[in-house]
Amino acid sequence: MEYTDILNERKSIRAYDASKKVTAEQVKEMVEAAIMAPSWKNFQSSRYYAALSDEMIAKVASECLPEFNARSTQGAAYIVTTFVKGQAGHNMEGVPDNELGDCWGCYDAGLHNENLVLKATELGLGTLIMGIRDEAACRRVFAIPEEETIMAVIAVGYPAQEPPRRPRKTPEEILKVF
Ligand SMILES: Cc1cc2nc3c(=O)[nH]c(=O)nc-3n(C[C@H](O)[C@H](O)[C@H](O)COP(=O)(O)O)c2cc1C
Repeated sequence: MEYTDILNERKSIRAYDASKKVTAEQVKEMVEAAIMAPSWKNFQSSRYYAALSDEMIAKVASECLPEFNARSTQGAAYIVTTFVKGQAGHNMEGVPDNELGDCWGCYDAGLHNENLVLKATELGLGTLIMGIRDEAACRRVFAIPEEETIMAVIAVGYPAQEPPRRPRKTPEEILKVF
């Protein structure tokens, strides 16, 4: 698939075909794409925790997500995304390089995660990035260490809908050229 086609094709999916399961091999391909993203000093601080078994998927849906997000993602698998604190935005001694500090970890995770969802699109999978999730429950369910900041839970599965494109701003609205 061409890059522009993938950009156009990717939309948040809120209905999944539960009869088709995402495989560990597909998740590995998605993470391989994520790894190609640029990162602060090439620290590559992003981490992933995938729930592919029925048991773990049910646990994430019931314990880590609010009801509306669990309902939207029935039939999908889940990937929790994190980053290691104190790397991106910091020098080798762990001192922040500028005022944004660990915000750069969020920045790098976003770049990583975008590669991941675009790869999923190329593989014919749908995704929903969910920022509304229970941080403490994610940490407990996946035994995520305190050294990592938990970002999104990404649902991934076979789409059971073709949603319309959500409205977008134009370049004229967001770009100033000098
Ligand atoms: C960081 C982030 C957090 C989001 N959290 C949620 C969420 O918790 N629940 C949800 O239904 N959609 C969530 N979304 C999806 C957005 O609503 C969606 O990306 C946006 O409306 C644009 O639509 P599109 O993805 O179809 O282009 C989130 C998206 C991002 C990037």
